[in-house]
Amino acid sequence: MTKAPDIQFGALDDSRSKVCVVLSEQNRAFAPALKALDARSGGLVTKAAGIAKFSGGKKSLLDLVAPAGLDLDRLLVMGLGSASKFAETDWLGLGGRVRARLAGARVSSAELMLDIGEGAAVTGRDAALVALGAVLRGYEFKKYKSKKPSNDEEDEEVDTLFSLRILCREPEQAVAIFAGLKAIGEGVVLARDLVNEPPNVLYPEEFAARVAALAGDGLEVEVLDKDRLAVIGMNALLAVGQGSVRPSCVAIMRWRGAAQADAKPLLLVGKGVCFDTGGISIKPAGGMEDMKGDMGGAAAVTGAMLALARRKAPVNVVGIIGLTENMPSGTAQRPGDIVTTLSGQTVEVINTDAEGRMVLADIMWYAQEHFQPRAMVTLATLTGAIIVALGKEHAGLFSNDNALAEQLATAGRDTGEKVWRMPLDAKYDKQVNSKVADMKNIGGRDAGSITAAQFLQRFVKPGVPWAHLDIAGTAMGSPSTDINTSWGSGFGVMLLDRLAGQFYENS
Ligand code: BES
Ligand code: MN
Ligand code: ZN
Repeated sequence: MTKAPDIQFGALDDSRSKVCVVLSEQNRAFAPALKALDARSGGLVTKAAGIAKFSGGKKSLLDLVAPAGLDLDRLLVMGLGSASKFAETDWLGLGGRVRARLAGARVSSAELMLDIGEGAAVTGRDAALVALGAVLRGYEFKKYKSKKPSNDEEDEEVDTLFSLRILCREPEQAVAIFAGLKAIGEGVVLARDLVNEPPNVLYPEEFAARVAALAGDGLEVEVLDKDRLAVIGMNALLAVGQGSVRPSCVAIMRWRGAAQADAKPLLLVGKGVCFDTGGISIKPAGGMEDMKGDMGGAAAVTGAMLALARRKAPVNVVGIIGLTENMPSGTAQRPGDIVTTLSGQTVEVINTDAEGRMVLADIMWYAQEHFQPRAMVTLATLTGAIIVALGKEHAGLFSNDNALAEQLATAGRDTGEKVWRMPLDAKYDKQVNSKVADMKNIGGRDAGSITAAQFLQRFVKPGVPWAHLDIAGTAMGSPSTDINTSWGSGFGVMLLDRLAGQFYENS
């Protein structure tokens, strides 16, 4: 949506811009880049820092406009706190804060000197992460604003940044690594756009059309329309959508990047409920508009597939998303209905608002039958209960496989898309037994996100390592961060890309 700024990398001594951002660690001597500027200006920076009581604390800023003695329009000194133990997420966050500061200062073109001196050499990878952070922070969803905000409206943040040069010690490495990270950023932006789109625009067939357009990026895309789903027997998915005038569909994306073309794929499965009213078990009116984001799992899968394709990841991955709309109407499913899922197992519908698991049940089964996955990850805005349990900082992780769970936990810590493991247990599984069918679609008041996961587990084939991520709290409406200020967060794209990249590529 947002036009990403033009990002370039250069060497530390190759300064060209009139607006310069330099970094300062808290209570440490200036790094060489800043020391040189201070010397050239006859100690201006030291003097200004003293007057402003700037000591380089995290989130502090020294903004010098038209600094005397320097051939600059502006010198921004950004406080870092301590950078010696910066992790990936810190570099991302730094890029985000630089972007925000420059936008706040209405700067259009700037240079960032990525130099923090001895003991904390900034690598090309760090620099590339800073660039990705800057790209992600610049995202905004403004396509339905008919008026363009003007520069003199104080309350409107106008992002004017169109070019950023990042000066660092390893510019060539940064360029090479950023090529891959840029692809990941594009996947995140796609996922955010999909989640933010209003539900009158992004209905199942429109979502599928946007997926089909990704064929240009080298993904093999197949869309199964409603009639095809009926022939196949995806009755649970179709039951969810039967109250809507918008036909349900399923989209399948294949990325074949592995050296061994027929290597078993990693399988990503996403809930794509384009709007969830609850159906006949209708939700209360307050906040129902948020249910346009109930396709966040499908958005994460789609964004991750785009990222993998654009960075030409050497791995085989299949993404499958179930697209539908949960509406009340004369044709809607009723509480009490019993449907036969594609797997042959029957489900008694107790609450039509527990629809996500019905959608996933059929596409999980279909995908396992067709693609013999090495591992399967399901992503869904599945339960409000996961928000009660974990809030908006962690997605819930459920898994039948400790190794896969560990991989996701590691990928989550490293990318900042954190997950927290929740239990699965035969005792919880009993809660979804039905008197009249094989199972019912809710498990009672207790442990709502666990019983939802237990329901899904009944559609995992023996021997398939499976993990389920309940992203109801993290995909949308989560608090703003250094790298995201949008309602739709794109949560899951960086996590899935990392899972594939670190644990499934070239193996
Ligand atoms: N899409 C909702 C879950 C949800 C809630 C996502 C809040 C994001 C924010 C899901 O389909 C749902 O309605 N779940 C019910 C399950 C219940 C009927 C067992 C819920 O969480 O209340
Ligand atoms: Mn629901
Ligand atoms: Zn839902």
